[in-house]
Amino acid sequence: MKIKNILKKYKTPIFIYNEKKIIKNINIFKKNKIKIFYAIKANYNKKIILLISKFIYGFETVSVGEIKMLLKLKINCKKIIFSGVCKSKKDLKYIIKKKIGFISIESYEELKRLIIMKTNIKIILKVNLNIKTNTIKEISTGEDKNKFGINKKDLEKIINLSNKEKIKIYCLGFHLGSQILDHKPYICAIKKIIKLTKKIKNINKNIINIGGGFGIDYYNGNKKIKFKSILKFLMLKKFIKVFIEPGRSLIADACKTISKIEYIKKNDKKKFIIINIGMESIIRPALYKSYHRVENLKKRKGKKKIYDIVGPICESTDVLYKNKKINARINDNIIIYDTGAYCMSMRMGYNMRKRPKEILVLKNKKIKNI
Ligand code: LLP
Repeated sequence: MKIKNILKKYKTPIFIYNEKKIIKNINIFKKNKIKIFYAIKANYNKKIILLISKFIYGFETVSVGEIKMLLKLKINCKKIIFSGVCKSKKDLKYIIKKKIGFISIESYEELKRLIIMKTNIKIILKVNLNIKTNTIKEISTGEDKNKFGINKKDLEKIINLSNKEKIKIYCLGFHLGSQILDHKPYICAIKKIIKLTKKIKNINKNIINIGGGFGIDYYNGNKKIKFKSILKFLMLKKFIKVFIEPGRSLIADACKTISKIEYIKKNDKKKFIIINIGMESIIRPALYKSYHRVENLKKRKGKKKIYDIVGPICESTDVLYKNKKINARINDNIIIYDTGAYCMSMRMGYNMRKRPKEILVLKNKKIKNI
């Protein structure tokens, strides 16, 4: 379905998701050895979750709020992983009562809290392997300076505690960060985690959780992490079954946002294109200086000028794209690419702007409001 035709029926700003692309993205990871747990923090639109749930094994969550929503959608409680560094006693009680399948333990103290509650929930120990990845520094999580994961010393303490209390550990896991395009840190981490697993007594020797973090190509739209290389390596390890927790890679590039130019404005030092969506709904550029391709829907010929494309929010950081060379006029539509992940899920209430509409273009080209 052409954007032009969609805009005949729908107003901007609008997020347009593509069912076919979502399914294609999932299929990259669908292999016998692999169980996919979609990290719903990337996008928790209910219809998107229901669509994805048809093709994957389970879900990765980081709050009781996320779990409650999944249970409301009748997602199988046994197929949910509960992660996060700050699980309160109340959270733990809740997940035990609701018979959630897995918990990703992030610290010694957390395991102690859990043990007191006498549960047989499957325990994944999330290990901090101190592996550097070449990603935006704000979204790297796998290094020893980050708050995530269990360090070597605490892992030993945890293992001793679990031996003493006769608690079975389900498996070890890691999460290296997000928007990672190089497969090598994964191979390195997998090697380390297999080695560590071998050293532990009460554990399934044949399962590991390698987290999410698989990046997409925000610049050109055609490069993805070489998951095949990771898979090839995993294939050599014949007995290993793998859990993965992808978020971004399933949904980010299956969505475009269409906005409208409200004003074109010249101040003494800069020219601005002011569009009707900003950091309230697409915060990644302001927060991480991250990049989203933008383009005028109308292919205008003639001379391009340099503008900052900015949103309506009362903050100078509300810049979507700095120094864009573009030929555009008021009322033209600006396409913002790859907005399926960590845009609507990170949307905030500041300035109380209206929530943009979201639609899904189905395989049969029909449009569904979502
Ligand atoms: N598993 C765990 C334990 C995580 O912490 C995350 C993401 C994922 C899985 C999914 O990672 P993904 O496959 O989506 O990279 N807001 C940032 C991304 C933060 C990611 C946080 N953790 C952004 O807009 O780039």
